[in-house]
Amino acid sequence: MKNRSLLVCTVVFNLLFCSCLKAQQHSAKKVGLTANSGVFTKKQVETGAILFATHCAACHGRDLRGTEGGTALIGDRFITKWAGKSVGQLFDLTKSTMPKTNPHSLDNTAYSSLLAFILNANGFPNGDVALSSKKEVLAAISLGTPSSRVSMQFKPAAYNAKPTTIEADWRQHRGDCASSNYSSLEQINKENAKNLKIAWRWKTDNFGASPEFYFKSTPLMVNGILYTTAGLSRTVAAIDAENGETLWTFRFDEKERKTYVPRQNSGRGVAYWASPSIGKDRIIYITPSFQLVALDAKTGHLIPDFGDSGVVDLKKGLDQKIDPITATIGSTSPPIIVNDVIIMGASFPVGLAPVSKKQVRGDIMGYDVKTGKKLWIFHTIPQQGEVGNETWEKESWTYTGNAGAWAPLTADPELGYVYLPLEAATGDFYGGHRPGSNLFSQSLVCLDAKTGKRVWHYQLIHHDIWDYDLPAPPILANITIDGKAIKAVVQVTKQAFAFVFDRVTGKPVWPIEERPVPQSDVKGEWTSPTQPFPTKPAAFDRQGYSDDILVDFTPEIKKAALKIVSRYKKGPLYTPISTYNPPNNLGTLMLPDAVGGANWQGGVLDPETGILYVSSSTVIRPMSLESAPNISDMDYVAYMGNARIGPYGLPLVKPPYGRITAIDLNTGDHKWMVPNADTPSWVKDVPALKGIKIPRTGLPDRVGMLVTKTLLFAGEGAGLYGSDGGGGNKFRSYDKQTGKIISEIELPANQAGLPMTYSINGKQYIVVAVGAIGHPGELVALSL
Ligand code: HEC
Repeated sequence: MKNRSLLVCTVVFNLLFCSCLKAQQHSAKKVGLTANSGVFTKKQVETGAILFATHCAACHGRDLRGTEGGTALIGDRFITKWAGKSVGQLFDLTKSTMPKTNPHSLDNTAYSSLLAFILNANGFPNGDVALSSKKEVLAAISLGTPSSRVSMQFKPAAYNAKPTTIEADWRQHRGDCASSNYSSLEQINKENAKNLKIAWRWKTDNFGASPEFYFKSTPLMVNGILYTTAGLSRTVAAIDAENGETLWTFRFDEKERKTYVPRQNSGRGVAYWASPSIGKDRIIYITPSFQLVALDAKTGHLIPDFGDSGVVDLKKGLDQKIDPITATIGSTSPPIIVNDVIIMGASFPVGLAPVSKKQVRGDIMGYDVKTGKKLWIFHTIPQQGEVGNETWEKESWTYTGNAGAWAPLTADPELGYVYLPLEAATGDFYGGHRPGSNLFSQSLVCLDAKTGKRVWHYQLIHHDIWDYDLPAPPILANITIDGKAIKAVVQVTKQAFAFVFDRVTGKPVWPIEERPVPQSDVKGEWTSPTQPFPTKPAAFDRQGYSDDILVDFTPEIKKAALKIVSRYKKGPLYTPISTYNPPNNLGTLMLPDAVGGANWQGGVLDPETGILYVSSSTVIRPMSLESAPNISDMDYVAYMGNARIGPYGLPLVKPPYGRITAIDLNTGDHKWMVPNADTPSWVKDVPALKGIKIPRTGLPDRVGMLVTKTLLFAGEGAGLYGSDGGGGNKFRSYDKQTGKIISEIELPANQAGLPMTYSINGKQYIVVAVGAIGHPGELVALSL
């Protein structure tokens, strides 16, 4: 052992000794050129300081005085060691061994700047010439001893509380109350979007007993702080918007109610209320078990004079006879705050096979943001004496539930109106226990936010039996049609329509026609004779079955597809689901399927041009009804089939499988449509397709978008929907006029939430929630 260390010492000594000789030779050639001659610039010192803080300070200390993890890079020991050597040697050693965890990871100019910073900190002066990174130049400069010496005593780092300026914040879930997901920022633009890189990442792994993969929150940004929900416990977190540091977190203990939570997830985020008294702003959110919570935006502490010490039990607010613990109602979307009234919808367990036709109703409620006091309730299934009650035949209004608003809400604070996208009533695919058209299920409803009184409504599907819930927040648009200014509201739907109304009166902007639709032959079912069809804009995705929608990459594939579909019932949009009778009838082929078309990602709107961008999936899926007396008291429950039952595991339908469509709301015309992604491997790698030219197909998923001054940003969806084949980690910017791809960056995981943007201290950031199977959710911030 002794001998061995002796040997090592000798080797090291020889190396050092030889190097010293070499250095001396160099300095002998160029007499006088030492680090004291001003061999680097002030700018390099400044750049080096920033690089050092990011890459080196964790080990060497911010003040270079060393830590347990790294030696001091200033002081006598350092100077004595290096005085006789060349700057080139210091450069080579630093570059080849540092940062210790990732040597070589910076470029040469960065290493030169770091050296400038280290030398300057040791008392070497800066000058007019920049320190090059050329070997011969560096080798010719010897360090020598600095003319002024630095003290090794601890000195606190200079505290530069740099002023925070906010150029643009993001105060509402979708940017504004209009749900447009738009920002006028343009620092990130067509010319430089290709330079986007990750500024910081924020992880959610431990906000819950196990990690959450599907993290679909969109944070808010107010006063330099991001606010989000995170993890399966739906913890609320405040995060520094410039660097991703966690500032505070709040976790609500659901206790025994946790077991009955219908959808245990982090939800889509929080709401912000700006108080008239300075420093009293609030964060308002809904826990998975339906409790409304108010927190101090600065500290994350509960607001003592809101509800019961900061918490309001929303189940107690419902005027239905339900068990406050076991009733399965929650909300996955944040509430909206309109003129000091908090308004929220509700969500339920998936409704394919409800255990009973009797369910909790998803009524809409309004609460006072100052006190937490309930102000009003709106019955989405009208009770006795209320308008629409007669659309529930055979007293079905007494027991039917659901009909909530699970998507986020939209509001026009000037009008004082809130717009609700309501979903289907109990039984997503069988409505035999609720004969009638079933108001206000599947309706766009406009309420007075102060009173909860209905202003207008429009039912977009009568007696839904396709689970075509209104899946996304309505979007407000101020448009001009034939010279007339219209305050409009547009609702995108799973069945791929964009319904446009005057948002003051509820009158359709383009006529909506009631057209006859196929009728159900399932026992006990009641079908509406007609359904509403907008005459404009045209549908933004494929609707209904016909032989010419079938996949036809080769004649052989089309033939195989025709054979497969022969065992299913099929027809135009609104063909009812049939019962399962193998071997000849395996159910109904539904297009769009119940996932959509559009889903909660919905659309985004450019208020300057009135152009709506919608992302949608093209999925044809078998659905069938079966009686299941052991699992439900309903006559039929539904079963969902696989979407890729075509030849070679392809979908039965032709591509594109996912698209982005631009619609000009001033004319109702489509401007352009592009596939939302590259062709996935499950198409590209099919051996039978070798040599066949296949256009870009895109993929079926919920592609989240953001629109700014010149660009449309979009991801590829999380890939967390069974075997449909969606999801990808590419994040693109498109020219919003043409749909042309401008830039593409790979995220650490798949885009799962809707992207948002803000600008702080002169820098624009785009933040998006990502995740994937096996990759816990995180927020990723991009900047230039
Ligand atoms: C993970 C910790 C760690 C990080 C990060 C790190 N270093 Fe080091 N550094 C060390 C340790 C430990 C040593 C001592 C020698 C060794 O173990 O390689 C060292 C040695 C050095 C030396 C030689 C000091 C001497 O006395 O000769 C220089 C110069 C240096 N580091 C510069 C840097 C720079 C510049 C960065 C950032 C780009 C950096 N280090 C990042 C841990 C670190």
